[in-house]
Amino acid sequence: EQINKGKYEHYMQKEIHEQPESLTTTMRGRLIRGGSHKAKTVLLGGLKDHLKTIRRSRRIVFIGCGTSYNAALAARPILEELSGVPVTMEVASDLLDRQGPIYREDTAVFVSQSGETADTLLALEYALENGALCVGITNTVSSAIARHTHCGVHINAGAEIGVASTKAYTSQIVVMAMLALAIGGDTISNEAKREATIDGLIDLPNKVREVLHLDQEMKDLAKLLIAEQSLLVFGRGYNYATALEGALKVKEVALMHSEGILAGEMKHGPLALVDENLPIVVIATRDACFSKQQSVIQQLHARKGRLIVMCSKGDAAAVCPGESCRVIEVPQVEDCLQPVVNIIPLQLLAYHLTVLRGFNVDQPRNLAKSVTTQ
Ligand code: G6P
Repeated sequence: EQINKGKYEHYMQKEIHEQPESLTTTMRGRLIRGGSHKAKTVLLGGLKDHLKTIRRSRRIVFIGCGTSYNAALAARPILEELSGVPVTMEVASDLLDRQGPIYREDTAVFVSQSGETADTLLALEYALENGALCVGITNTVSSAIARHTHCGVHINAGAEIGVASTKAYTSQIVVMAMLALAIGGDTISNEAKREATIDGLIDLPNKVREVLHLDQEMKDLAKLLIAEQSLLVFGRGYNYATALEGALKVKEVALMHSEGILAGEMKHGPLALVDENLPIVVIATRDACFSKQQSVIQQLHARKGRLIVMCSKGDAAAVCPGESCRVIEVPQVEDCLQPVVNIIPLQLLAYHLTVLRGFNVDQPRNLAKSVTTQ
């Protein structure tokens, strides 16, 4: 066991730190750089015979549970932008509870690290019965979801042992960004976005390596938060998913109550919780939502909120309303890939909080890596 962990103490720690490599493996052979006259493209072998059908579908429905659902949520905006097809989200258990409508003209995308989660698998059976084209995005070759879907993409992140998913999350987002590029095809209107996204993907492992340097800073932050009862995480746009996933990590391993909040909903309830004691992480990296997040920070500050702001490098002065505010500066990347970079400090925070609080990092109480019963 110690050999598998290499120089690390825990699998979760190892899996967080190996993300530059796992992302490289996820992209290997799938991004075609193109010479000066040749457009850059994406090749996803497992989908090539189905791309036309996907482009013609009435909508794309993402279906998953836990972290896999959050990864799909992070990828939703880029898929909408590049494909022009409406994209909806379904938590697998909720789709089954409602027996929600799934049509022949739908493309249903099943996202699952293990490929064995009972609810996701049952939702797949349901979608197959309803005649939808079913696509699997899994990390496990020959898993049930990989076998029963019509086509799919393996994320190739390597085995993930820690119950809390880390490297699979970032690889899932990257695969879904590549899926968006593949569905979007080579339309002229998407050209600039497509090229910027492919360039961003190629450079992403370097940026992830850079953000991992925040390890000690996140450990210091964890020491400050060790005795807290609760932590809120505010995000929006591409980083709504980061807020949900960051809060999920803190909740599941550090056993601390944590809630990811859509910042646009702040005034519809969450604002009532704000005081000088409750720590709040606000994700305010540079993208189309930046000025809205600046305003959120001002409003939280006006209510004496205890702020920890995640911003792009060099933006500390632009985002911090006062000296009491703590900053996490991360490298800026293409907006659709920013969730990959932004989740990493929160994974590190959850990891260090757990170790400092003395809980089991790799096997949190009451949780299982793969939930194979309903
Ligand atoms: C469990 C795991 C989570 C995972 C979820 C979905 O709850 O603890 O880490 O995100 O199942 O699993 P899947 O294998 O379908 O991605």
